[in-house]
Amino acid sequence: MSGCAWFAPGRANLMGEHTDYNEGLVLPFALAQGVTATAVARSDRLLVLRSKQVPDEPVTVSLDSLAPGSPTGWAAYPAGVAWALRDAGYDVAGASIDIDSNLPVGAGVGSSAALECSVALALCALSGIWVPRRSLAAIAKRAENEFVGAPTGIIDQSATLLCRAGHAMLLDCGTLSVTHVPFRPSAADVVTLIADTRVTHALVSGEYSQRRAECEAATRELGVASLGAVTDIAVADRLADPVLRRRARHVISDSARARAIASALAGSSAAAHGRPPAAGPAPASGPAAAHGPAAAEPYRFIGQLLTEGHLSLRDDFEVSWPEADVAVNEAIGAGAYGAKMIGGGFGGSILALVPANRLPAVRAALTEAFTRRSWSPPEFLDAVPSAAARQIA
Ligand code: GLA
Repeated sequence: MSGCAWFAPGRANLMGEHTDYNEGLVLPFALAQGVTATAVARSDRLLVLRSKQVPDEPVTVSLDSLAPGSPTGWAAYPAGVAWALRDAGYDVAGASIDIDSNLPVGAGVGSSAALECSVALALCALSGIWVPRRSLAAIAKRAENEFVGAPTGIIDQSATLLCRAGHAMLLDCGTLSVTHVPFRPSAADVVTLIADTRVTHALVSGEYSQRRAECEAATRELGVASLGAVTDIAVADRLADPVLRRRARHVISDSARARAIASALAGSSAAAHGRPPAAGPAPASGPAAAHGPAAAEPYRFIGQLLTEGHLSLRDDFEVSWPEADVAVNEAIGAGAYGAKMIGGGFGGSILALVPANRLPAVRAALTEAFTRRSWSPPEFLDAVPSAAARQIA
């Protein structure tokens, strides 16, 4: 189909998993890979949805009869966006929309939000509607929560709509304040590698909601506004229930790690530009100047925090899975600075920070370890910090 095209990237999250719905900190960056929605307007108030990845008949729905529950499957995401836009008072026009994606689905790289947000931008442009990006993120999240039925937080939609090339984005999910911190690992000869473990997860499944419910129980019992508002890890020890204590400990410590990584990135960028390191993450621009061992130093530290984050997700939040644990161990054993699972858990991908000269060894170690266990070998994705969603044609 000819028409205009909008692209929305997937995301990787450096730190802050399951902190978004707890109003804590997250630190994602947008990927170069994502979802493209090519669309033309229609005058008959229909949405005609096709996906290159699902070569069935197109799904046709009437804008005036959209309601949660129908359609289901992949088409629920774009239909849900039209529903949520209309529910927010926007007059959405009919459209034929063709979807294409180079993101693995169910791999913890934000493919659902990329689908929602590419369609959201297409529908807004074709309908002559302008919605500020933060509001659009909330509308796309509502589509996922209420139309699709996945009780997810705000990180993915915010990342795809708000991230910047060459930066990670520190988002406070309590206040929704955003700080972009320079993140250019390639300038220090470091590669950010995603390994998709090929175990797919579904966020509509019970475990994700169960974790949310446990966090809500911990919040109530502690009498705090949110777990994300707590900065003293000792507060978690007040919880009598050992499971709730572990859950709270993860959320509090992951938010602290997100802040520490953002500070390290802001500080190293400032140092590379001959400025004194900022006390906290501060916007900075321009390429990191230094190369070589000195430039790699912050990445060693960040790598250690990545691995700490993984252990917290594995032992305290209990959302990791065997393939992720093996991948993280193997990556570190083969020379990565650190690694962690990303996304909701129970399947999906890991993210590793790897010195460029160790990349072949890390990939080979993971492939060998998976093959030895008769698991499908992981798929690798180069995770380059990239720009937010935009019109591309
Ligand atoms: C999924 C959800 C997000 C977030 C992560 C875990 O990706 O969509 O909202 O909760 O899990 O950090």
